[in-house]
Amino acid sequence: MLINYLVKKVKSSLINELSLLAKLPDLEVELAKLESKIITTEKQLKVIEQSQQQFTGHYEIWREKRVTAIIEHYGPLWFKDKKILEVGCGYADIGIAFTTLGAVVTCSDARQEHLDVVNERYPFIKTVLADINIEWPFDDEYDLIIHMGVLYHLENIAFSLEKTLQAGTQVILETEVSDSSSGDFVLQVEENSNGYDQSITGLGSRPSIKHLENYFNKYSMQHERLETSSCNSTFHQYNWKQTGSDEWRHGLRAMWFISKKSQ
Ligand SMILES: C[S@@+](CC[C@H](N)C(=O)[O-])C[C@H]1O[C@@H](n2cnc3c(N)ncnc32)[C@H](O)[C@@H]1O
Repeated sequence: MLINYLVKKVKSSLINELSLLAKLPDLEVELAKLESKIITTEKQLKVIEQSQQQFTGHYEIWREKRVTAIIEHYGPLWFKDKKILEVGCGYADIGIAFTTLGAVVTCSDARQEHLDVVNERYPFIKTVLADINIEWPFDDEYDLIIHMGVLYHLENIAFSLEKTLQAGTQVILETEVSDSSSGDFVLQVEENSNGYDQSITGLGSRPSIKHLENYFNKYSMQHERLETSSCNSTFHQYNWKQTGSDEWRHGLRAMWFISKKSQ
């Protein structure tokens, strides 16, 4: 009796183990799926964590001042239904301000990881990946092109200026510049292409104010430079005095409201 009972017990436990062994391949597949989900979630968390530390700090008040200056320039009602392109948008924190005033905004950057954050935060904004040193995959006409904080991170400013000044009825150009009175002056500066807000190619340009204004004239654009302290913020300065030293330092900035001359 006892022997029969023990044989039965051993048999049933063997059957259990065998059936578990049979399920092992399925379990391994499930485990691999779970591992891949964990890796994806970890990556997403890292992107979210990183994005909370980028385009913050000194950017915040500076951005607010520039957006305020733009709204004061055109008036808040002007933006309704306007077609706007923002290049070098980062996380589109400038462009988003104008969507709240009724504009339809397309945002572009050379870094896909920035556009991923824009898509996550503002899914209603169209995003376009483009290195504006060499690419212009945009429409032929915009009511306004916002070209802020990116020109000095380009090694080929001529291409970007030509495309922008041809496609924008209105353009806002904001950039670091050199302290030079020469119309030919453009300083080439090496940058860290791993910096999230730096040149994508590792080379940037610091042109003189006159050099840029020559472009505006070449493309028959009227231009008005902001010469007050209204957008000064931490080290970013707009009302500095030109000395003609042919030097560049961080924070020497210029911003223009540019528009096509009426025919
Ligand atoms: C200094 S941040 C400016 C962000 C924002 N426009 C502002 O003014 O606060 C420069 C931005 O330009 C982008 N950028 C750098 N080189 C670029 C290029 N060749 N084409 C397009 N975007 C570029 C960077 O990825 C970054 O988002």
